Amino acid sequence: LLFRSTLYKTNSKQDFQAGNKVSIVGAGPVGMGCAFALLTKRVTNNIAIYDVKNDLSTAQRDDLRHASLFLQNCNIDNSSTIESTKNSRVVVIAARPSSKPDESCEDQLHRSAEMIKQIAPELLKQSPKAVFIVVSSPVDVMAWVARKITNLPYERCFSTGCHLDTARFRMFIAQLVGVSTSSVQGMVLGEHGDTSVPIWSSVSVGGTLLKDLLPPIGTEKDPMAWSNVHKSVVNAAYKVIAGKNYTNWAIGLTVSDVVSAIFENSNRILSLSTNAKGMCGVEDEIFLSLPCIVNQWGIYGVLHPQLSDWEKEKFKMSATKLLNTQNSIKL
Ligand code: 2OP
Repeated sequence: LLFRSTLYKTNSKQDFQAGNKVSIVGAGPVGMGCAFALLTKRVTNNIAIYDVKNDLSTAQRDDLRHASLFLQNCNIDNSSTIESTKNSRVVVIAARPSSKPDESCEDQLHRSAEMIKQIAPELLKQSPKAVFIVVSSPVDVMAWVARKITNLPYERCFSTGCHLDTARFRMFIAQLVGVSTSSVQGMVLGEHGDTSVPIWSSVSVGGTLLKDLLPPIGTEKDPMAWSNVHKSVVNAAYKVIAGKNYTNWAIGLTVSDVVSAIFENSNRILSLSTNAKGMCGVEDEIFLSLPCIVNQWGIYGVLHPQLSDWEKEKFKMSATKLLNTQNSIKL
């Protein structure tokens, strides 16, 4: 037990909502990527889709219901009223305000924060014991807004964060070394996206640490330029968006993986965006990704990652960027 507390810090455990209902807020491509993944991966057969655009959520619901023969006796509800999300076990917030032409990134950020401020407390009223997973962009900041405004315990309000960046990172390494993605171990921490931090010091393939073969791997001193792998991770979403305007399949499967870790009470360790205060030198309540132990309570504990000096430096830069963004938002 003493060793456990050196390895990770645990969150408090809260009351528990039974059942397998997952509500998805937002019937756009991201929300529906989540719904499709949750149903086809058989993580749940009980979904509610909530969107202010009733025609859209009804069409999405019907399109999925028509496939009920191929799904497991599924129940798919939809509505433009928030009551449809009642008594969820998990609520996935994937909504975004409709885009306005020529809007600056900053204005968009503030409109997204306003949207979260408005809907998160309402969703909580409907499902007081649910775990809340925020995937509205920018995910780290929106998870922080949702947590602040609802005052939920940290284990029950977080974002998928760098779980997706980690999946991309492992995939690009796997392609280079010619093994399956699941045989590459490694994590990306920090901000989801631009300032994410690849933890090269712990990347291993079939148990072999790559840094043992190439000590400066991934850093500016790496003669083999493995840093290009991380560049590909950062550019991944931009490239997909350039081609199809949004990303949805990978984020949908990322969400379904997190929900399955909750439903299976798995204690799996995933890179999720949570309160980093007190971890890796972070002094403020900043949401960014750390290795999190996920079980039926949500984020049960957060590991103290062992970082190289280079990684510590990058992690700090990521935290500073997120703190600045958080500070620009009025709560
Ligand atoms: C993604 O990384 C855009 O955050 C979204 O796919």
